[in-house]
Amino acid sequence: MTPSLVPSLLTEKTESQQAKSPITTSFSLAEPLALLGGKPVRSSAWPTWPIWKPETDEKQLLEVIRSGVWSRADVVNEFEAKWAQTVGAKRALAVVNGTNALITALAQLDIRGGDEVLVPPYTFIGTVAPVIANGAMPVFVDVDPETFQIDPSKIEAKITPRTKAIIPVHILGLPANMPAILAIAKKHNLAVIEDACQAHLAEIDHKQVGTFGDAGCFSFQNSKNLAIGEAGAIVSNNDLFMDRCFSYHNYGNPFGMASGVIGAGTIIQGNKQRLTEYQAAIGLAQLKRLDAQTTLRNENAVYLKAKIQKIPGIVPYKLYGNVTRAAFHLFPFRYKKEAFKNLSRDTFVKALSAEGIPCSKGYATLNNMPYLNDAFQSKNFQKMYPKSQLDFKNYIERNHCPQNDRLCNEEAVWFSQNMLLGTRADMDEIANAIEKIYTHADKLLSVK
Ligand SMILES: Cc1ncc(COP(=O)(O)O)c(C=O)c1O
Repeated sequence: MTPSLVPSLLTEKTESQQAKSPITTSFSLAEPLALLGGKPVRSSAWPTWPIWKPETDEKQLLEVIRSGVWSRADVVNEFEAKWAQTVGAKRALAVVNGTNALITALAQLDIRGGDEVLVPPYTFIGTVAPVIANGAMPVFVDVDPETFQIDPSKIEAKITPRTKAIIPVHILGLPANMPAILAIAKKHNLAVIEDACQAHLAEIDHKQVGTFGDAGCFSFQNSKNLAIGEAGAIVSNNDLFMDRCFSYHNYGNPFGMASGVIGAGTIIQGNKQRLTEYQAAIGLAQLKRLDAQTTLRNENAVYLKAKIQKIPGIVPYKLYGNVTRAAFHLFPFRYKKEAFKNLSRDTFVKALSAEGIPCSKGYATLNNMPYLNDAFQSKNFQKMYPKSQLDFKNYIERNHCPQNDRLCNEEAVWFSQNMLLGTRADMDEIANAIEKIYTHADKLLSVK
């Protein structure tokens, strides 16, 4: 099921060019580690996030604020039209955040109590909470550690008569293997809701993620590659589905109605998830930069990957062969402590941060946390599922994902997307710092 992990065309060309460039030597490997009192490799700041440029970004925002029209109206419509056009979908609906984009999409695909939804465990809670919010049961499918994405070869074993949908997550902004996932979904008649919350403008064969499944959901939360603070969107080519989503996000008012009309009646069970005009104005300002930023992140990621993969024990992400562009919300690699004299990942991360290279261990295992049991004990779950399915110990065993455990508990390390907006010299400093730690790993073994 898993296609060969050959680098994409973009990656292949640039990587082979970059592979010849040695790690720069303008710093001294002999310098003591910063964690042990030495001079850090880097002392300057990283590009800040989010980016706001008053001269170009504030005109429309100020107009909105001064107009007094702050609730959903023309600017939200404009943002939706531009987002749909940007990702290549027929329609987009802006909502309050990515979590509620997923809640809405699942509800309007009729994913409810008694249903099971397949999800990867290597994701943010914002993927799984919407499944539970709709009364459905998340079922975890292990990941491919090389790509950090859901492993299509493990999906079919998790399908039961209750399975109604799959949520592929393009986690870290790297596309999941959509062709393989769509083939399985078609065979088993499953709805596909793409969680593209981290994957703005990522592409498979030049088609943007979020447009492969029945629905694509995006987040514009502050850290995201398109930042509004809090906001989200659903995209789809299906008019009836989008009409229903629109209605749901506006208290279930009649389809297509831009705002509530007193006395018009409420035709479906709804919620209120409308974006404000000023959020949309911020989104429109950010959208102007997104394409160029995405190109820069891709270029720097390819360059950095080529450099750090030469260091023993550092295994950067792989992209599936059909990926033509990634979003790089994060830059992930696997840390193999054996190559670093068994230095723990915790100490590696501390040491790298001390060198002026901020980094993170990433996600904790989502497939065994107490929130699941809390849901299972609720009245709704107790009524909708057989007791055996709600036994937490049993659930954890059935949902055990060893590859994900290894990523979360031992190997994954991330850099955040704003670092990829730096220069080649910035990328060199990341590589230099890792090489410095590699060289002096033995000196850190006693650090707690
Ligand atoms: C993979 C993933 N899914 C869902 C969400 C939820 O989006 P939001 O934070 O906008 O609710 C996020 C956001 O952090 C995310 O990273």
